[in-house]
Amino acid sequence: MEEQTKLFTREELKCRNTREDAILIIHNGVYDVTKFLEEHPGGEEVLLELAGQDASEPFEDVSHSSDARALMKKYKIGELVEADRTQTKPAFSPQWNNDQPQEQGNSWSAWLVPLLLGVAATLLYRYLFA
Ligand code: HEM
Repeated sequence: MEEQTKLFTREELKCRNTREDAILIIHNGVYDVTKFLEEHPGGEEVLLELAGQDASEPFEDVSHSSDARALMKKYKIGELVEADRTQTKPAFSPQWNNDQPQEQGNSWSAWLVPLLLGVAATLLYRYLFA
């Protein structure tokens, strides 16, 4: 099946904030939650309050389970047009991944040297004054 992603602007989504037509923008994806309002375990109030808007932050603040994230897909109707997207996608740049272990390695060896010096100094002290 060919997948055609429908694109929306934030402007045209703004007014879709009623119980009869409720959408949410989460991580640049557009979700029609009209039929989900009553089923949402967190209640319909929160969804209606955020309807027509970007709910990425509140959605993440609640730490939704992977089940909830899987369920979201069912309600996805499209994405934001390129110009309206934010760079908040949970995609990690490979550079970050490369940097982190390196930094850890550095800090580990930075600790090791003084630690060994400390042990050596203690042993020497005990030898001399025991
Ligand atoms: C399409 C979007 C959403 C889906 C599919 C969804 C789904 C779910 C699911 C399945 C739960 C049960 C707990 C879990 O599995 O994590 C949940 C809980 C909750 N959700 Fe959502 N949610 C969505 C959007 C939001 C948004 C935008 C908010 C705004 C704050 C929100 C607020 C909450 C709260 C407060 C709970 C906790 C309820 C409790 O534990 O008493 N949800 N949601």
